[in-house]
Amino acid sequence: MSVFNASRLLNKTVLITGASSGIGAATAILFAKGGANVILLARRAEALAKVQEECRVAHQASGLKEGGKFASIPFDVSDRSQVESLLDKVPSELRNVDILVNNAGFVLGVEHVGDIASDDVESMFKTNVFGLIHLTQLLVKEFKAKNNGHVINLGSIAGREAYAGGSIYTATKHAVRAFTGSLLRELVNTQVRVTEIDPGMVETEFSIVRYRGDEGAAKNVYKGLQPLVGEDIAEEIVWAAARPPHVNIAEVLVFPVNQASAGVKYAAPQ
Ligand SMILES: NC(=O)c1ccc[n+]([C@@H]2O[C@H](COP(=O)([O-])OP(=O)(O)OC[C@H]3O[C@@H](n4cnc5c(N)ncnc54)[C@H](OP(=O)(O)O)[C@@H]3O)[C@@H](O)[C@H]2O)c1
Repeated sequence: MSVFNASRLLNKTVLITGASSGIGAATAILFAKGGANVILLARRAEALAKVQEECRVAHQASGLKEGGKFASIPFDVSDRSQVESLLDKVPSELRNVDILVNNAGFVLGVEHVGDIASDDVESMFKTNVFGLIHLTQLLVKEFKAKNNGHVINLGSIAGREAYAGGSIYTATKHAVRAFTGSLLRELVNTQVRVTEIDPGMVETEFSIVRYRGDEGAAKNVYKGLQPLVGEDIAEEIVWAAARPPHVNIAEVLVFPVNQASAGVKYAAPQ
């Protein structure tokens, strides 16, 4: 069966953080193709506008009459006041959000404990953890009130395993995993769904950000193996959202075929 049971996505409104690149951008486009409406959030306005245009083209090509409403909102999820006032900026026709995809996140550096800049520690936690929590609180209140909705959080293999050079990032993703697990349990007596998607290696801007713009170092991470791409994870996210309402995909762990854990991978000799 295709990733779409399009009828289940038609006219749903999806709010996606980190929609300006990588997994978030691919997810926005795939939802658009399935007849959903999409609110795209990230800090880079220009990149968001480009992804919104790709959403419009994908929706048009689908031939679907439903959906196809889009809005891009420049937004820093690490700024609590921006989160608190977010819904005021959402156009009224998209105000009834059905699916929240908490995707914005990043890792900075590979320094070991003792050598990590305090600003980097704080910015990773503020985005990956606090931003995700504040935004979820905002929307879960609405989901509970209407007894409907879906929270989809981007975790990582780094939320299941620790590794040297990733102390802060793995701590943030372990926090996401704990938060998501508690939310799943709290909402068990409702129709609100909670999903955690945990990717392994995905080639996006992720490693470029980690290596502070050094594209050579970022490319090196994937040498000798075929990493996942944003579209691979977008398919998992949209698939989870397109299940029948009584089905909750609680968690998905996705690796490239040559990865088996955070540290176990096979790279062909170059
Ligand atoms: N790539 C991987 O190997 C991998 C593996 C496991 C999990 N993940 C997770 O997947 C998610 C998406 O990552 P990706 O691989 O798609 O990386 P990416 O291409 O670097 O995308 C990250 C997105 O997050 C946004 N973002 C970062 N800080 C933000 C902030 N403060 N406010 C709003 N948006 C912010 C970025 O947009 P702006 O810069 O425009 O704000 C960008 O759109 C992350 O949570 C990441 O931890 C990735």
